Amino acid sequence: MSNKTRWYKDSFVYQIYPRSFCDSNGDGIGDIQGIISKLDYIQDLGVKAIWLSPIYKSPNYDNGYDISDYRDISPEFGSLDDFKKLISEMHKRDLKLIMDLVVNHTSFEHEWFIKSKESTDNEFRDYYFWRKGRGKNGKKPPNNWTSRFGGSAWTYDEKTGEWYLHLFTKEQPDLNWDNPKVRKEVEDIVNFWLDLGVDGFRCDVITYISKAKDLPNGKWHPFVRGDEHFTHGPNIHTYLRELSKNGFSKKDTMIVGEGAGVNLEQALIYTNEENEELDNVFHFEHMETDFYKQVLPRKFKLTNLKKIFSRWQLGLFQKGWNSLYFENHDFPRSLKRFTGDYKDKRVEAAKMLAISLYMQQGTPYIYQGQEIGMTNYPFESIDDFQDVVVTNVRRVFGVFEPLFRPIILKVLKVRARDNARTPMQWDDSENAGFTKGTPWFLINPNYTEINTKNDLLNHDSILNFYKKLIKYRLNNEVIIKGYYQEYNSGNEDLHVYIRTYNGVTILVVCNYKNKEVSFNPHPETVNKNCNLVLHNYGYDRPVLEPMILRPYEALVYELNKTK
Ligand code: NOJ
Repeated sequence: MSNKTRWYKDSFVYQIYPRSFCDSNGDGIGDIQGIISKLDYIQDLGVKAIWLSPIYKSPNYDNGYDISDYRDISPEFGSLDDFKKLISEMHKRDLKLIMDLVVNHTSFEHEWFIKSKESTDNEFRDYYFWRKGRGKNGKKPPNNWTSRFGGSAWTYDEKTGEWYLHLFTKEQPDLNWDNPKVRKEVEDIVNFWLDLGVDGFRCDVITYISKAKDLPNGKWHPFVRGDEHFTHGPNIHTYLRELSKNGFSKKDTMIVGEGAGVNLEQALIYTNEENEELDNVFHFEHMETDFYKQVLPRKFKLTNLKKIFSRWQLGLFQKGWNSLYFENHDFPRSLKRFTGDYKDKRVEAAKMLAISLYMQQGTPYIYQGQEIGMTNYPFESIDDFQDVVVTNVRRVFGVFEPLFRPIILKVLKVRARDNARTPMQWDDSENAGFTKGTPWFLINPNYTEINTKNDLLNHDSILNFYKKLIKYRLNNEVIIKGYYQEYNSGNEDLHVYIRTYNGVTILVVCNYKNKEVSFNPHPETVNKNCNLVLHNYGYDRPVLEPMILRPYEALVYELNKTK
């Protein structure tokens, strides 16, 4: 058994997308010195750790998720010395650092791949998946798998007349984890960063690292094929345990896995402490309540979201560990998605979402800008998107792209990852205080109103509410360890639940709609001493009784405690 303190069970994690966080040198791209300059801001929020999206050397086909050197920092973000300074400044402030570990694939510019391409029999050939094609002359891809970013998952290489596998863009060839040398390389990378002082890793698409033997064809589906052969593949648990033993568990780390395609059954294996694989996983079920397969928009129903919350809260209780998130760099901003047309109630809606999510059990994650209620960008032209996914999708439509453009744009406006990647809004000065140069990406014009400076000055702001909520949650045994039970499960407007631990109950009541909704407390929760501890309208509901909740009203009561 490892000696982990499991500090992450009582810690908020703040995710930084470095490119869009803070630019210190005026080149329009966020950097490490920029992050250092904002550490006091982050510490003041009350979080205990930062997860940094990749800052390694990369040609940036996928904004750093395509790494060409795992032991160096991309010059646009700074140097290894800057990185060392970052760690030491963070540790001074009791902030832990979680690095992104992207090892399902490398960049096509990584030296392993460059060497691997040279011939069919070099020592790096087997670091990747090279296969002969099907059909006459081998001009058809080796199987029918699709890339998660659209199109075939295989690219043909003229030089050796074979195809290589890439579950993402063609510039991101998949590593062959069945090769022990690859696993040893990954261990060395993990230990390199642990030795530099990092406190954990967020493992990118880690559920994809083990592929089915012989790479068989996948079930037919119009745009997602092959998953069943590369998600939780045959050796996934063996490989993770090995990496944990030889790397992850050498320090008091937190390891969170991006769990593409993870279901509860698998999450129980990944996060069972005895298995020593991962400490928590990001599952995607709640992120698909409004997007089928994370792609096609569909009508959001609160009852579906609540069902997913309940299933995961109960399923992992005392057997695994959850992660709580509504936003990251791969999804649009959460407000519109889950609270609909909030009109002038952005602040109330954002606070309500925070209560609904963060009173649950698990490690809570906040994505940069979520704490001030940043919103999707008002995209008007398809050419304004930067994400490689958009380029790929347009390519897949081929000559028909212009015909479908209005529909594609409509979907992208609500779904594109670019929505969450616009620069952080620090103040109302030019470029939202993000850079003194020309920003690498569009800045949301609402920065004059939505920015950290305004929020810091305003007592009732979303930011100040987040601070209150974080403070309330830290060291709170009921929230860390308590049982979750949902009430009013069939109700389309309300999310109501209790958490119970050692005779104390916390009741959470959230109105997800921009309208008044009546609420009758469950008989089990009334007639008890109650204490209103968090609210988004003002302290005017001290007593738990039948009430008409205001638009997006959210309340947290402690019950059973003597006042
Ligand atoms: C998941 C990352 O979060 C995403 O940004 C990236 O595009 C893919 N993995 C591929 O690395």
